[in-house]
Amino acid sequence: MGMVNLTNFDSQMKKRVTEIKSIIEGYLPDEEGFQRTLLEAVNYSMLVGGKKLRPLLMQQTYVMFGGTSAVIRPFMAAMEMIHTHSLIHDDLPAMDNDEYRRGKKTTHVVYGEAMAILAGDALLNLAYETAAKAFDMEPGNPNIGKAFQILTGKTGLDGMIGGQSVDVEFVDRPLTEEQLYFIYRLKTGALIEASMMIGAVLAGATQEETEKVEQIAKNVGLAFQIQDDILDVTGEQEVLGKPVNSDEKNKKTTYVTVKGLEQAREDVARYSEEAIRLLEELPYENEFLHELILNLIHRSA
Ligand code: IPE
Ligand code: IPE
Ligand code: MG
Ligand code: MG
Ligand code: MG
Repeated sequence: MGMVNLTNFDSQMKKRVTEIKSIIEGYLPDEEGFQRTLLEAVNYSMLVGGKKLRPLLMQQTYVMFGGTSAVIRPFMAAMEMIHTHSLIHDDLPAMDNDEYRRGKKTTHVVYGEAMAILAGDALLNLAYETAAKAFDMEPGNPNIGKAFQILTGKTGLDGMIGGQSVDVEFVDRPLTEEQLYFIYRLKTGALIEASMMIGAVLAGATQEETEKVEQIAKNVGLAFQIQDDILDVTGEQEVLGKPVNSDEKNKKTTYVTVKGLEQAREDVARYSEEAIRLLEELPYENEFLHELILNLIHRSA
């Protein structure tokens, strides 16, 4: 497979992220009514920045499997809403207690804790309201129900929220490799898995193909969270848009504290290469997606 020219990749990336932002904006609420402050907090957290990686992975997987319909759009927006919900709550004083996110003050710093809790709740609910719009777009499409189940399941008790619960409970104590892996697979992997699986399912992928996509995304997710831990130690706040040394502050046992920086870096590459190997086993190709996964290995934000 020919490599995408780097400038070409960067410009395609920019174009796609711009397009994704405008899709998402179309599903955000107007700031009016007595609950206006809540609506402002919701829009603030959604519009403030972020890489839009999950909708991008969803869209690119959809395209790879031959999807062409607009039905993917509400799911892309819904995924970014769930992710943003998870970040608002992750930053709260009761959780990681962080004051910067996406280059701006966190939602609770700007709007207060009560409003940030509600903005997180509201975004989680708005995500499901948004994804449900897909049913009206294509009432006879059985894949929409399947995609909806993936979206809800990977967010919940056996997904992101379950992972976050173990992350906050198991602080300041040694973790087994199995526990660490469990936390990363769920708190971060689950939404990345859901993103790619929904793209596949909505494009009509078979059960077997969808399971393969889940494995690809699992590896991308593990690499992504390990790199997040590395950047928490080696990154710069100006580039990351969020504080460094948050994990140390919160006495987190992370991949870096357990395995060391060098091993962590090797494993980011190893998991990413495994994702690529599995991706290449599929009978479809998407050069941009391929390049995107490889680029994440060396990301600095
Ligand atoms: C941050 O996710 C939380 C993790 C799962 C590590 P991102 O790094 O994708 O955050 P944004 O969306 O770009 O702000
Ligand atoms: C991210 O873990 C997991 C979720 C937000 C679901 P972190 O706590 O490491 O994420 P950052 O570093 O604050 O983005
Ligand atoms: Mg956290
Ligand atoms: Mg955090
Ligand atoms: Mg982190």
